[in-house]
Amino acid sequence: MTTQQNHKITVCTTCRYKGTDCRPGSELIEKLRAAIKAAGDAVPEDFEVSGVACMAGCDRPCTVAYHGSRKATYLFGDIDPAVDIDDLVTFAQQYAYLHDGWCSSVDRPGKLRKSTLARVPCAIIALEASEICAS
Ligand code: FES
Repeated sequence: MTTQQNHKITVCTTCRYKGTDCRPGSELIEKLRAAIKAAGDAVPEDFEVSGVACMAGCDRPCTVAYHGSRKATYLFGDIDPAVDIDDLVTFAQQYAYLHDGWCSSVDRPGKLRKSTLARVPCAIIALEASEICAS
């Protein structure tokens, strides 16, 4: 039996530190997966951690997004895998408990207070009955 994860963390795999060829996205994914696993029940929901090439925050490497079913989406920038893993795990814990995912900057942990590039409300899109039948 498989369980559906309804929380996701997406890490940019193509962000590059300015003036270097270093692309730390893959390292960030591995560290974040390990830290969430190590946190155990402290993070009350399963999070799928995956990568994507570019989330349009290229001037603020690395970028990391949090999304969940019926929840606000966040995009954070300036994330450094060497120093920001604890803040990312703490936010995963917090995000899991927020019923709509919405929180203000002062409630976010550490660097995430000032490195938010976007906070997008959830969208619940109702389909007309005729559209449901056509799909
Ligand atoms: S390359 Fe990472 S956001 Fe564009």
